[in-house]
Amino acid sequence: MNWDDTTDTDATGERLVGPVADHEDQAVEAALRPKDLGEFIGQEKVREQLDLVLRAARARGATADHVLLSGAPGLGKTTLSMIIAAEMEAPIRITSGPAIQHAGDLAAILSSLQEGEVLFLDEIHRMSRPAEEMLYMAMEDFRVDVIVGKGPGATAIPLELPPFTLVGATTRAGLLPPPLRDRFGFTAHMEFYEPAELERVVHRSASLLDVEIDTDGAAEIAGRSRGTPRIANRLLRRVRDYAQVKADGRITRDIAAAALAVYEVDARGLDRLDRSVLEALLKLFGGGPVGLSTLAVAVGEERETVEEVAEPFLVREGLLARTPRGRVATPAAWAHLGLAPPRSQTPGNGQGDLFGT
Ligand SMILES: Nc1ncnc2c1ncn2[C@@H]1O[C@H](COP(=O)(O)OP(=O)(O)OP(=O)(O)O)[C@@H](O)[C@H]1O
Ligand SMILES: [Mg+2]
Repeated sequence: MNWDDTTDTDATGERLVGPVADHEDQAVEAALRPKDLGEFIGQEKVREQLDLVLRAARARGATADHVLLSGAPGLGKTTLSMIIAAEMEAPIRITSGPAIQHAGDLAAILSSLQEGEVLFLDEIHRMSRPAEEMLYMAMEDFRVDVIVGKGPGATAIPLELPPFTLVGATTRAGLLPPPLRDRFGFTAHMEFYEPAELERVVHRSASLLDVEIDTDGAAEIAGRSRGTPRIANRLLRRVRDYAQVKADGRITRDIAAAALAVYEVDARGLDRLDRSVLEALLKLFGGGPVGLSTLAVAVGEERETVEEVAEPFLVREGLLARTPRGRVATPAAWAHLGLAPPRSQTPGNGQGDLFGT
């Protein structure tokens, strides 16, 4: 899976349907975060399992096991980490992999933790190697070796730590070294949300933002949100603006559809970039196969933009396939753009793997 390829790409930040938080998201998200497990929508399995882990720890009067949260941007990892702390009635310390470049940075944080505190380590896959090794020992034995001095005279002073719960978050679980992964007592894989779940997210956020919205309006926004609560919340804010300026502030299906047409987010959540890639593939190359570079030139974008920003969602939606011979449109792509596939692409032309045998 490479839905997470977009994590480090700047271009995603400017897109209305990009998964990574932009400045406005960062400012408003805190207000929209569910505060406990009961309020957290969807992710049934994760919620059920986490509920057991936390309940059991509470019953034992112990600190909860270390938890690893993995999943695409905007699915609720930071939110869950805060919920874990709230459910454990423990304070939370927030830091991230990139902020910890030296083992000393980590030692300073670890040695100042209180008993039972939750340490949230975001983007844990981006921590430096020496810090990672220190973390192994801290997670397992609640102990670190602080190195004092340099060169041959350097000595390691062992330091006991109070028991704490590490909550690691990563968009790329595959990049975590196995010894680190193995030290988590519980790993939660966050999945993309179902439209019905996103509908509940939209209703919940609308009520917190004091926006009036009906069932169809929420469904319309949910359907365009790419399985991602962050995007649902962002689209809701843009639709709210439109409803206030162009109507009486109430969000209905028509208002939502009209607003998102202005922002060029289509019924399936594709934006202009996604559509132009798909359109080029269908109209210029007859549905492919066509090489990535050729496709990128045709839409006037960088190769990386097409590959990392547009394609992951198109692949996930089953609209485009990456094959050894190049990019190929699926029947769903033709249907989505309302075009008829050329005769040579109907079943029986040797593309049985894509078009059914
Ligand atoms: N299950 C949920 N129910 C309701 N709202 C949610 C849920 N999950 C996420 N959200 C909302 O989506 C927004 C983004 O969630 P969050 O910041 O936790 O994502 P993340 O996984 O940490 O993303 P990133 O990888 O970019 O750090 C939050 O403001 C939160 O309100
Ligand atoms: Mg986060």
